[in-house]
Amino acid sequence: MEHPYHTYRALFPVLTKYVHLAACSGGALALPVARAIEKYHSTLLETGANWQAHLAKMEEAKEKFARLIGAEIDEIAVVPSVSDAVSAIAVSLPEHPKRRQIAFTDLDFPAIGQIWLAQDRFNHHLTVIHSQDGMIRTEQYEKEINDQTLLTCVPHVSYCNGVKQSLTEIAEIVHHKGSLLFVDAYQSAGHIPIHVKDMKIDMLAAGTRKYMLGIPGTAFLYVRRELCEQLRPKLTGWFGKSRPSSFDLLHSGFAEGAKRFETGTPSFIGLYAADAALKLLLEAGPEEIEAYLQKLARFSLQYGADKGLQIIGPQNLHNRSSLASFRVKDATQIEALLREKNIITSARNGAVRIAPHFYNTKEDIAHAVDELAALIHRRTLK
Ligand SMILES: Cc1ncc(COP(=O)(O)O)c(C=O)c1O
Repeated sequence: MEHPYHTYRALFPVLTKYVHLAACSGGALALPVARAIEKYHSTLLETGANWQAHLAKMEEAKEKFARLIGAEIDEIAVVPSVSDAVSAIAVSLPEHPKRRQIAFTDLDFPAIGQIWLAQDRFNHHLTVIHSQDGMIRTEQYEKEINDQTLLTCVPHVSYCNGVKQSLTEIAEIVHHKGSLLFVDAYQSAGHIPIHVKDMKIDMLAAGTRKYMLGIPGTAFLYVRRELCEQLRPKLTGWFGKSRPSSFDLLHSGFAEGAKRFETGTPSFIGLYAADAALKLLLEAGPEEIEAYLQKLARFSLQYGADKGLQIIGPQNLHNRSSLASFRVKDATQIEALLREKNIITSARNGAVRIAPHFYNTKEDIAHAVDELAALIHRRTLK
């Protein structure tokens, strides 16, 4: 298979020694991202504190993320993590006389359950939509969302089995029932195209550490412009004030747009990294990345099956991302053994996840699957 991104591989030094297939957990670090991190350090070392330059970098990173998901820059807030983004929304939702129910799915990351269960206001009003054969059919949303649902929270791609949901269809159902739609895009942003306007998404969050190729401590929250004014942040700070530079202690108002969900000084170093990584991803093109990764996905499903591995979730490429979860006993141990062979994967819930990005090749996947199958085989013989 032709690798359209072979020139990009040189930007990822780790690939000279390792097969890196863990983008669902942490993407490989690219040289331009490492240089951006160094630049943050060197400017501090050589030219001292420069608040305005750091704020400008924050805006640049926001603008690029907005472009990645088809939003406007004032609809983006910088937050420390996806958990913080969900919590910010959970505590800001308006009281509604009739709508008190929050819906989420069993394909969501555990942070989602943790956050909604922690809300006294909602913890007796939770609807969990259960997957069947590893996926959720649109009819289930039709059935489970009703005139009491205030917000429906869905993962674009599931962290456990790589199932990809049709956000456009879900948005249509959810909105028809009068609920808001929150999308956790941490497993999709950076390798699957997202257009929040076309898809009619109300709110979306994604961190930068996985497919967005950044470092931990930085995430983005998108909130549709008209919705921002209806939400009153309760988790707040001076970055969320209307005029933070006024340093006014006693008079406040919330910033316009999604900025109102920001709290304190962000991780500027994470924003330097995010800006460089987003530049790289926008240049490579999310549509092209997805098309390439679909080919890798087809290959890993077929090659895994040929080697006798059991894939978790649906087999249909239409419903899944390039993340392939192979069922394995002692997955954490197997992950460690693969690492000893210089293959980086990620274990979760009784499976080893193989999560390629545009820097990977078919040969990377074949090598990882061969080694995984050999390890499983050896253990079965013991
Ligand atoms: C889909 C998804 N959502 C949320 C999270 C948690 O993100 P954070 O650590 O930024 O809160 C993860 C982490 O793996 C994830 O995969």
